[in-house]
This record gives sequence, structure tokens and C-alpha cells, in this order.
Amino acid sequence: MSTRPKLLVTRRLPPEVEARAARSHDAEFNATDTPWSGAELVSRAEGKDGLLVTVTDRLDAATIAGLPASIRIMASFSVGTDHIDLEAAAKRGIAVTNTPDVLTDATADIALLLILGAARGARAGMAAIREGTWANWAPTGMLGIGVTGKRLGILGMGRIGQATSARARAFGMKIHYHNRRRLDASAEEDAVWHETAEDLFAHSDILSVHCASTAGTRGLLNARTLALLPGGAIVVNTARGDIVDDEALIAALGSGHVAAVGLDVFNNEPNIDPRYRTLPNAFLLPHLGSATLETRNAMGFRALDNLDDFFASKTPRDRVA
Ligand code: DGY
Repeated sequence: MSTRPKLLVTRRLPPEVEARAARSHDAEFNATDTPWSGAELVSRAEGKDGLLVTVTDRLDAATIAGLPASIRIMASFSVGTDHIDLEAAAKRGIAVTNTPDVLTDATADIALLLILGAARGARAGMAAIREGTWANWAPTGMLGIGVTGKRLGILGMGRIGQATSARARAFGMKIHYHNRRRLDASAEEDAVWHETAEDLFAHSDILSVHCASTAGTRGLLNARTLALLPGGAIVVNTARGDIVDDEALIAALGSGHVAAVGLDVFNNEPNIDPRYRTLPNAFLLPHLGSATLETRNAMGFRALDNLDDFFASKTPRDRVA
């Protein structure tokens, strides 16, 4: 009988990650890669010691309450932990870990892609090429918005917010930010701190969302706060869809108060509000922030490092509950 910890892995992972998981654990994988319901996850967890979960799993209080007593750890293949009820996990004495750092650069790259794609009308331009409607080059044709010299408002100046700022500085943008804690001077550089999100909104030609989804940030981009943006602003989101009220953002896009959006994350993924699909000024990606092989390998290895530490009775470096 195997003495390796019994691990349930809820989604397919890159081959090198699955190979390592199979070496270090008595692992059960999700062969079809279809996300499991809470009930199915609970039933498959029977007899397991740990779970390797990710953002498509809904580990709410009811699901966590149903997990067998043998489960001692949930290692999430993600930096975000909003899919896990951390309080419910702590109550059950189940450790939770995440995978910070390793996806910072990939996600900041996508934030820049969204800023540039939204500002320069990449979606409408691509449609003109694909649909054969590009009549000719015109001095006044398909004019976008230049980013050089614009104020980039970073909502949430953690690792990804800071990496996005570093990239944006190279494009000549001026950095403004709101973060609960002001950065120290060396990390802040020339960035302007705003004590409230509202004040940041009022000073953002381009607003890029990088905060975690929490009770305090859900719906933070709503009709009231979007109205604070300067007219013709751009909104970019690589954090979580539920920070945005879709109704309000779509209305602001329709009126032109928001000139364009770049979105990588959505409410109710993958069943996004269908109106986004038809808006020419919405540059959209399907949650690709961390989607490079290098990054997904690093996330998998980081999750496995956390599991190895936990089962060796050490404190995993990324323990969040
Ligand atoms: C995360 O890690 O939280 C992302 O949303 C997926 O990479």
C-alpha cells in the first residue's frame, strides 16, 4: 500500500506538473478536465488527504462542510482565493495555500496588452481585417487614444499592480494608485497615491483593476464610481469580474463616458454578459492572465511545493488559511 499522501487534482495540469504530482502523491486526476460540481468534488474527495484545486472549483461553506474528515489541505493553483471560503476552511482546520509571485509578470503583460488593445481599437481593427471591410488607409480612420502621458490609475498596488506600473512607465504613462497601505518611497517611485478609490477614479485616464475580490471590492466599479472617471476614460480588468457591475460598465461604454474597455475577467465566466460580444470598443480575452506554459508550470510546481511542505509537517510558504 502506498504511503504517499492521497491527492485529488480537480483539473488537468501541464504534463510536467502532473508527472511530479504523480511521483510525490498517490494522485487522482480529472481525465476529462470538466469542472466538477461541489457534490462531485466532495464524493471524489473520499479517502483523500488533500485537494489540488483551482479557480473553477467553488469551495463554499456548504462544500467545505461536506468534505471528508481526511482532507487536511487545499492547495489552490491560483493566486486568487475568492473561490474558497477561507473562514469555513479554517473552522474545519483545513489549510489553504495559493500561488503568488509566479504569475505576476504574465498577468502584468496581459494588463498592458489590454490597455494597448483597448486604447488603440484593436478589436475593431481586427474585425475590419477579418471581415474584409478595411476599404483603405485614411488619415481619419480608426483613430485610437494615445497612452503616452496619460494617467494610469492602478486600483490595488500589490505585486501585479506594481509590475503593470513598471511596464506602463516604459510607455510614458504617469502612475496613480490606490492601495489600502501606501507603498514606501522606494517602491512608490514617482507614483501618486490616492487615499480613496473614488479619488483615484477622478484622476485616471486609464483605470486598471488589480485588487482582490473581497466583500469590500465586489461591485466597486459601479454607476456611481464610474461616473467619477474623466469622460472618455479606459477601463481594464485583469483581477476578477465581480469587482465590476456589468450593467453600469456597459451603460458607460454605450454613452461614451468610458471610451473603451480591456477585460480578461468577467462575472459568471465563461457565460459572460452577451452584450460585451457586440461592443466594438470592448477588447476581450478569456481569462488569459497567467496563461503561458512557463507560468502554469511554475504555478503547478508552487502548489506542489506547498503540498510537500505541508505533508512533511512544515509550514507551506503560501499558507493563507
Ligand atoms: C489566479 O491565479 O487567481 C488567476 O485568476 C488565474 O491564474
